[in-house]
Amino acid sequence: MHKKLFIPGPTEVRKEILDAQAQPMIGHRMKSFTELYTGIINKLKELLETKNFATVLTASGTALMEAAIRNCVNKDVLCCTYGAFSERWFKIAKACDKNADAIALDWGKVVKPEMIEEKLKAKKYEAVTVVHNETSTGVRAPIEQIAELMKKYPDVLLLVDTVSSLMGDKVEVEKLGIDICVSSSQKCFALPPGLAIGFVSDRALKKAEGVSGKGHYLNLLDIRDYFDKKGQTPTTPAISLMWALDKQLDKMKAEGMANRYKRHCEMAQYVQNWAKKNFNLYAEPGYESVTVTCINNTKKISVADLNTELGKRGFAISNGYGKIKELTFRIAHMGDLTLDEVKEVIKNIDEILKL
Ligand SMILES: Cc1ncc(COP(=O)(O)O)c(C=O)c1O
Repeated sequence: MHKKLFIPGPTEVRKEILDAQAQPMIGHRMKSFTELYTGIINKLKELLETKNFATVLTASGTALMEAAIRNCVNKDVLCCTYGAFSERWFKIAKACDKNADAIALDWGKVVKPEMIEEKLKAKKYEAVTVVHNETSTGVRAPIEQIAELMKKYPDVLLLVDTVSSLMGDKVEVEKLGIDICVSSSQKCFALPPGLAIGFVSDRALKKAEGVSGKGHYLNLLDIRDYFDKKGQTPTTPAISLMWALDKQLDKMKAEGMANRYKRHCEMAQYVQNWAKKNFNLYAEPGYESVTVTCINNTKKISVADLNTELGKRGFAISNGYGKIKELTFRIAHMGDLTLDEVKEVIKNIDEILKL
């Protein structure tokens, strides 16, 4: 039996979107691919109301996190860390031989603009990394306020991981001045894994011209040039996934981005009210994610047993991540899930746990 996924990625993929992948193959140097890919890029920009350069890489989101570092940082980068994925960005920066400093906060907490400002006043950084939605802790960073602060520092690029928020939460890429916005197909896009979706500002592209060690596969200037000249990708893309993405973007347009955000807020509200009544939330109050809820396991339930029982009923939720694996569990409410589906999984959890 298929288990409906309430895990924070991969998320449920509608049958018609899965089916869109099953088409006779085309060549990635054919006109039909150029039409497909340029169409996707235009739809992405339209939905997110941005003129920034948009790209879809055949890779998972982590590749774009690395691309952001390799293309935008010669030496000094400030990484805000408060969970597994923000810590990953810090590790990537160090692995790329950059001088990375961290604002290292406890998991569950979140970075505030004044913490970043203190660092920017003390040292000249080329870029700051912020994870918008920490999937490991269910925390949402105050990206609007952080973006406002960054306007005072026009030489410092703002690199934002929206892997588990873009197309669910509200992310005004261009209005906020996000220089590189990174996302993955398997979260709020409600697609199979395998694509990294990114938006790159002119400022970031300009900066990349003076950065050495951009590498080959993730060189954003080469990727931009290839797109400008041919409307294609420099290397062979996951064409089947592109068909699914193209169709899913049409579905998102039909739903409307504001409605999509509203639906995510309603699902989050429902799960978080339930969690507060029966357990409590891991996230710092006021900074709860709208796409995933991380719950303190105050009742010391066996999450593995709960998931086994849920599995028999056709659902899957998620245990905690990394060092909080045993202390928390997570219910994702992202992608194409509906409030009714969320109510159904919660009702089943109530029955199993006799809450
Ligand atoms: C916030 C966040 N950033 C980055 C990643 C890594 O994305 P990917 O697995 O697509 O490389 C994830 C994956 O769960 C994530 O949740």
